[in-house]
Amino acid sequence: MRQPGVSVRRAAVHDAPALSAFARRVFHDTFAADNTPEDMAVYLAQAFSPAKQQAELEDARRVCLLMEADGVLIAYASLLDSAPHAAVAAAHPVELERFYLDQRWHGRGVAASFMEAARGVARAWQGDVLWLGVWERNAKAIRFYEKQGFERVGAQTFWLGSDEQHDVVMSTALTA
Ligand SMILES: CC(C)(COP(=O)(O)OP(=O)(O)OC[C@H]1O[C@@H](n2cnc3c(N)ncnc32)[C@H](O)[C@@H]1OP(=O)(O)O)[C@@H](O)C(=O)NCCC(=O)NCCS
Repeated sequence: MRQPGVSVRRAAVHDAPALSAFARRVFHDTFAADNTPEDMAVYLAQAFSPAKQQAELEDARRVCLLMEADGVLIAYASLLDSAPHAAVAAAHPVELERFYLDQRWHGRGVAASFMEAARGVARAWQGDVLWLGVWERNAKAIRFYEKQGFERVGAQTFWLGSDEQHDVVMSTALTA
């Protein structure tokens, strides 16, 4: 669903500080209630520092999309022209590494149009399958991905600080 004032653009390197702050906040909003403050602090520092965000924005294998409402950042998605994954049957897999909306925008229909923008990046890379890992306890995101045509194809491990967690691997074919 298109909404007035909402637009999507590719992030540039100069977006790294704003992206870092936003990514930390939405990750914390999503997972702080189900994890220890210590594990969260370790992961947030490791994954979302401005330097790490800048390095990812400079990485030619990645594209980061930003969704803005009247110029305010409300969502980001990171795509990786990925290596093969054992659970993903694809000639040219593309990983959706991150897909996060500000909580105020959940349930308002913009996630679906943002996913369409992400698929567009993967298609432009000639990808044939879009895949992702999602925490097995993140039922809302799994439901959203299922609505978007993703199917469960496997599992993988994810470390949040000292906590070994189990991700569901999901994938969907990219049709033209
Ligand atoms: C995942 C995300 C992008 C989905 O966007 P959204 O606008 O919330 O998605 P939608 O409202 O279209 O769909 C969510 C679905 O989950 C359902 N849902 C909500 N809470 C749920 C819960 N606790 N358990 C199961 N389903 C739930 C909703 O009812 C809805 O399904 P329905 O349309 O059949 O009623 C967004 O919620 C988000 O950014 N979450 C935080 C970040 C995150 O988890 N990202 C994914 C990391 S892999």
